[in-house]
Amino acid sequence: MTEAILLVGGKGTRLRPLTVNTPKPMVPAAGVPFLTHQLARAKAAGVDHIVLATSYLAEVFEPYFGDGSRLGLHLEYVTEVEPLGTGGAIRNVAAHLHSGPDDPVLIFNGDILTGLDIPALVDEHNTSGADVSLHLSRVEDPRAYGLVPTDGTGRVTAFLEKPQTPEEIVTDQINAGAYVFRRSVIDTIPTGRPVSVERETFPDLLSSGAHLQGMVDSTYWLDLGTPQAFVRGSADLVLGRAPSPAVPGRCGDRLVLPTADVAPDAKLTAGTVVGENARVGAGARISGSAVLADAVIEPGAVITDSLIGRGARVGARTVLTGAVIGDGAQVGADNELQTGVRIWCDAHLPPSSVRFSSDQ
Ligand code: GDD
Ligand code: MG
Repeated sequence: MTEAILLVGGKGTRLRPLTVNTPKPMVPAAGVPFLTHQLARAKAAGVDHIVLATSYLAEVFEPYFGDGSRLGLHLEYVTEVEPLGTGGAIRNVAAHLHSGPDDPVLIFNGDILTGLDIPALVDEHNTSGADVSLHLSRVEDPRAYGLVPTDGTGRVTAFLEKPQTPEEIVTDQINAGAYVFRRSVIDTIPTGRPVSVERETFPDLLSSGAHLQGMVDSTYWLDLGTPQAFVRGSADLVLGRAPSPAVPGRCGDRLVLPTADVAPDAKLTAGTVVGENARVGAGARISGSAVLADAVIEPGAVITDSLIGRGARVGARTVLTGAVIGDGAQVGADNELQTGVRIWCDAHLPPSSVRFSSDQ
């Protein structure tokens, strides 16, 4: 039996200002709440018991996932009164683990989409005899992550969370947010106060001589921390670039949920998903975008790399590129919105109000 802890709390769990009522792990990616993909991948890797460590709007997880039996899992939920940080959250759920002191326990950041070979990470952990093993990914710009240099044998030599100076950028290997902890190491994390596993636990373990092992894996990897990344991740799930057994349907250029209504001449490409009861009008062109449930896309709209919130409406001929339209928002006809724009939930933008190109 393999157990896992999934970290889904903290301050950044809401996809602000997109879906003020929905914590990020529950926003649909490729048609199902994002968390479903992580749970299904863990299950496929042989995990059967998962504890969700949460601190925020916890009550939205349990009604949807219940005891986990629908996914073949035994799920438990632990809610922090105040966010305890990543390490504090891990320690806080320790009493729910059944593993013995030397058993491996998997831990996942809850906002990562990855093709990681989970059993390979556990194997590496068992063969290297490490106290903690970390999945590492190589990225071009590591500044937003935890830097993890290793020696020739993969042993971790330092852990530098969010480096501030150029001198600190000593590697392009980053902490990809999946760990295997020896169970007894979890019990050494202090209780009753916030602890950052990245800023406190890992550096302390290293300075006390513990064995941290890194496994660099160049598989698909994406942190869904920004709405743009979320849109990208959803499209990659639809396209099959990001592997998940939870995509409801066959992977391909588009995913249209059975209750959606798409005009025959609308063009959906590049991993676009159209959610439950959403409507797409004649001649609309939607590329690399996520149209959430109950949204309405009027005829002739052209939407690229955008997120259209639940119940939102995009007017006729409106052009959206890299836009985030909040739940219930209405963008009138003949607008043009470009990269980075976010329309608040329930906001109304009148027809012909914004454009970037010339008036002709
Ligand atoms: N339960 C709980 N309580 N969970 C938390 C808390 C908390 O207080 N704080 C954060 N989390 C969860 C988040 O929900 C997320 O799933 C995960 O822990 C990581 O937190 P983020 O806030 O997303 O951190 P980050 O993306 O800036 O950095 C982390 O992930 C990077 C990879 O994406 C770090 O682990 C970096 O080292 C890493 O490179
Ligand atoms: Mg993150």
